[in-house]
Amino acid sequence: MSINLSDPAGEPSPTALPQPYSQACENNKVPILAELKWLFAETKLVLELGSGTGQHSVYFAPNLPHLQWHCSDISANHQGILNWHRFAPSANLRGPYQLDVNQSQWPLAQFDGAFSANTAHIMAWEEVALMFAGVGRGLTVGGRFCLYGPFNYHGRFSSESNAAFDAHLRQQSSHMGIRDIAAIAELAQQAQLHLQQDIPMPANNRLLVFER
Ligand SMILES: C[S@@+](CC[C@H](N)C(=O)[O-])C[C@H]1O[C@@H](n2cnc3c(N)ncnc32)[C@H](O)[C@@H]1O
Repeated sequence: MSINLSDPAGEPSPTALPQPYSQACENNKVPILAELKWLFAETKLVLELGSGTGQHSVYFAPNLPHLQWHCSDISANHQGILNWHRFAPSANLRGPYQLDVNQSQWPLAQFDGAFSANTAHIMAWEEVALMFAGVGRGLTVGGRFCLYGPFNYHGRFSSESNAAFDAHLRQQSSHMGIRDIAAIAELAQQAQLHLQQDIPMPANNRLLVFER
């Protein structure tokens, strides 16, 4: 199926798009939004870390019109995100900002919501710690950080497919790998972020919700 680029409501076809495309984003955006609707019901400004293709942002922003959705990522991904924002504009979309969690200055000093999908197993463990430290610094008291992805319990994979995915990641780079929820929660505590919810999601993923 091809896509009419003047019709953002049309179903994206990977081959027709000038912007990067992730099938995983198309699969998980609906169940994630269902949770974000209540988790960010009182939120005014969300910083997204590791926006990737930008597909999540163009779906979430118009469906959460009461807040501003601020994208960020390393600069290599900015053009793709901008292409998505041009394809499916929304008045409450901002960014993308340059944000590598290793940098000392973050683009926003304060935000009352934060979101990141599928980043904790891609970043090195030290970078996951920096992500939590940065979110802990910027998130206002009572604000929520929603972190989506696959996670382990007590070092055990929650499915065969997650075990295979972890092996694939570690083959690509030794610093990548599926993280243990307990270790993540400990990092979060050090950043004054407390794990409040561990929500099961389709395809053996979780949505971890931390509160400042
Ligand atoms: C697997 S992609 C996930 C993208 C998107 N959130 C999604 O769910 O499709 C991992 C993302 O983490 C970002 N990332 C990796 N290392 C990072 C770092 N040090 N600081 C910020 N983002 C980083 C990558 O640029 C990429 O966008």
